[in-house]
Amino acid sequence: AAAEKGGHSSFMEKEILEQPTAIASTLLGRTDAEGALVLDELRISEEQLRAVTKIVIVACGTAFYSGMTAKYAIEHWTRIPCEVELAHEFRYRDPVVDQHTLVVSISQSGETMDTLMAVKHARELGALTISICNTHGATIPRESDAVLYTHAGPEIAVASTKAFTAQITACYVLGLYLAQLRGGSYAEEAQQVMRELHEIPSKVETLLAGMDRVREIARFMADTRSVLFLGRHVGYPIALEGALKLKEIAYIHAEGFAAGELKHGPIALIEPGQPVFIVVPGPDTPHGLHGKVVSNIQEIRARGARTLVIAEEGDEDVVPFADEVIRVPQAPPLLEPLLTIVPLQVFAAELASAKGLDVDQPRNLAKSVTVE
Ligand code: AGP
Repeated sequence: AAAEKGGHSSFMEKEILEQPTAIASTLLGRTDAEGALVLDELRISEEQLRAVTKIVIVACGTAFYSGMTAKYAIEHWTRIPCEVELAHEFRYRDPVVDQHTLVVSISQSGETMDTLMAVKHARELGALTISICNTHGATIPRESDAVLYTHAGPEIAVASTKAFTAQITACYVLGLYLAQLRGGSYAEEAQQVMRELHEIPSKVETLLAGMDRVREIARFMADTRSVLFLGRHVGYPIALEGALKLKEIAYIHAEGFAAGELKHGPIALIEPGQPVFIVVPGPDTPHGLHGKVVSNIQEIRARGARTLVIAEEGDEDVVPFADEVIRVPQAPPLLEPLLTIVPLQVFAAELASAKGLDVDQPRNLAKSVTVE
């Protein structure tokens, strides 16, 4: 097993570091020489895809958070309404789905029973189904009309990391493909976004090379009882995923919130010394969201929170209110999640190992949940 980990302390550590390759491999071969997206593998006719009036993403856990992230981009690029639902909720609530609905399931293993049952249910209702999956020949892709594989390579650690960034990448490829297919103002933008996506792996590489301080913070925090995570826009699902990682492997109470929701309740939790990670939208994010989140940091800091701020390189606005600034390379707002999640993964893995826990095989959890 030591050899399989390639000299790393855990599979999770190894898989975190494999993300540049996982993202690059998921992008590979999905554009032609002119830069246009090609998804011949899809096996659903262009005509059927053009007729789609609604997209529903179904998934569980980390895969669900990748879907939540993708929703922002897919709706923006395709102008098709996109819902994201936990697979186990979707199936039991009489969802409105017909032959013009595209149900996109996301699953690393392709064996998650809840997700499989949601896909079967969607097919019974006449929907088109696409599986985004990391495991070749798994049950969910076999039960779907089409599959778009993530090429993250086998993921061994129970806590999903490289599959997550590969899932976001695959969803983005699908969204851009639909935008291109349907024409309209975002069709041209699609090639530009693909070029920007191709720059992400080297940015993740740079980011991973600078994680020493994050590891140090994690080790200092080994006795922490509770950590909060705030995010907004695409940073919101990243806050949720950061919290999930910490719960899963470090057994620390962790909760993610939408930053805009603070004043509607969660701010009451802030007391002196409470650690809070804040995923700050880049200064280019529309609607002044960057400034709004900076104000949130200021508000919680005034109430004694210990602010651990994840912000873009060059974003100086956060500095006065940050106890720690964790820098990520600059990227277009919708692509930021592929970067901002990385320090949170590293933080959880390092903290769990500082506590002497089995990072790869947390208690009570299985890698793939094949029962309902
Ligand atoms: C992630 O860290 C979890 N272990 C879990 O939430 C997982 O993402 C979920 O069970 C879905 O698994 P799947 O992607 O194999 O369907």
